[in-house]
Amino acid sequence: MGKTKKSDRKLSDPELLELEARHCSWGDTVHYAKELNIFTRCEGSYLYDDKGTPFLDLQMWYSAATFGYNHPRLKAALVKQIETLPQLACQYLHKEKILLSTRIAQDAQKKFGAQGRVHFNVGGASAIEDAIKVVRNHTKKNPVFAFMGSYHGRTLGATAITSSYRYREKFGHFGDRANFVPYPYCFRCPLKKDKETCNFECLRQFERLFESEYYSLVNTKTRQCEFGAFFVEPVQATGGYIIPPKGYFKELKKILDRYKILLVDDEIQMGFCRTGKLWAIEHFDVTPDIMVLGKALTNGLNPISAIWAKEELISPEVFPPGSTHATFSSNPLGTAVGLEVMTMIEESDFEKTVPQKGRYFVSALKALQKKYPQVGEVDGLGLAIRIEMCQKDGFTPNRELTDAIMNIGLSGQLTSGGKKRGLVLDVGGYYKNVFTLAPSLDITEKEIDLGVALFEEALAKGLVATA
Ligand SMILES: Cc1ncc(COP(=O)(O)O)c(C=O)c1O
Repeated sequence: MGKTKKSDRKLSDPELLELEARHCSWGDTVHYAKELNIFTRCEGSYLYDDKGTPFLDLQMWYSAATFGYNHPRLKAALVKQIETLPQLACQYLHKEKILLSTRIAQDAQKKFGAQGRVHFNVGGASAIEDAIKVVRNHTKKNPVFAFMGSYHGRTLGATAITSSYRYREKFGHFGDRANFVPYPYCFRCPLKKDKETCNFECLRQFERLFESEYYSLVNTKTRQCEFGAFFVEPVQATGGYIIPPKGYFKELKKILDRYKILLVDDEIQMGFCRTGKLWAIEHFDVTPDIMVLGKALTNGLNPISAIWAKEELISPEVFPPGSTHATFSSNPLGTAVGLEVMTMIEESDFEKTVPQKGRYFVSALKALQKKYPQVGEVDGLGLAIRIEMCQKDGFTPNRELTDAIMNIGLSGQLTSGGKKRGLVLDVGGYYKNVFTLAPSLDITEKEIDLGVALFEEALAKGLVATA
């Protein structure tokens, strides 16, 4: 019998973690957590470790696995494509690419009354880069607006329009850094206004900047603005699942239209029914000039991303062959799953079930809020739900407690529901004190009840640990 090679034998988790510590870059986000888990299986709303401990996942790969892990229908689409045309250079055509583009473009035409085209790339940030190219090509302007609290990815171009300086600090000068404008974060309104009566004072302040050339944005004689586009997240995602007040985007769009500033709608995290509508921007009654898609487009299977842009921005006359390209961009495995995702959504009643489940979840969390003053705010749009953790005053951000709860969840030692379980939560927010919940759209009421019970158990333990 041959000697077992070390690489062939089953390594224990501690052995694997030792190898990870030595050979994996720590430059990604794995080491944000204190508890490092190695998962071996996933199904529906659950991740499982080697011992079979179920971890209820309430963040679903930051909303990439929106339709649940290991979804049979999407897996079947992938397997079918593997068995027929698994590989093809994206310079050549295949049916799924054409049909997926058609679905997205026809949907946009129906909803926004605008003809447009779809261009694929690989990851979210790369699609943001493509959107930046389309903006620059059309407007011949580099400067853009983005929101404080925004997150558009970590390539250099996307980092330049992502608000955190921390992501730019080590990587040289960002000449194209966006001009960051306050987001309507009403729970922490910097103007101390009440959202019912403020008449969008934050927007009025932005609007005032166009009144005189001395405020740096426009030449008031020519009415030319120095800025070509405003990149927005319709619900600010990494910023803490912040839902803007109704009417905000409509008012913003009026200002942008006056100065021919394009509206670029980043749907990477909120798209594909996360909020109950295919695109989150549909809640706000405005038509974007460009949409950026990613994550759930393939439910995390063989990722691809895309932009949709209005015809005048992306027609072959203005955006000719070779304008942008990536080897893996419209690969057949990704487009086949994307096409199945679109078909599944069309056949689903997510428009009804997602808001229903969201309301059920939020009302259970609001009941917790009554018991624990540290739960400062609970809000949601569909199944994009935020829980903002605070000190006892219900307002001062409490990062320590948030981290403690997250790590307790990941320890896999919770016992609610009569069995050892874990809870997977993602943390976002300006003060890293917001749980950004993005459960599977197929989550059941029973799983929501369990999620709330596990959260309460982790919260109670977190309060003791941080007392
Ligand atoms: C709104 C938004 N835009 C862009 C990105 C970047 O996408 P990716 O990580 O696929 O590059 C993300 C990722 O979290 C996101 O949430």
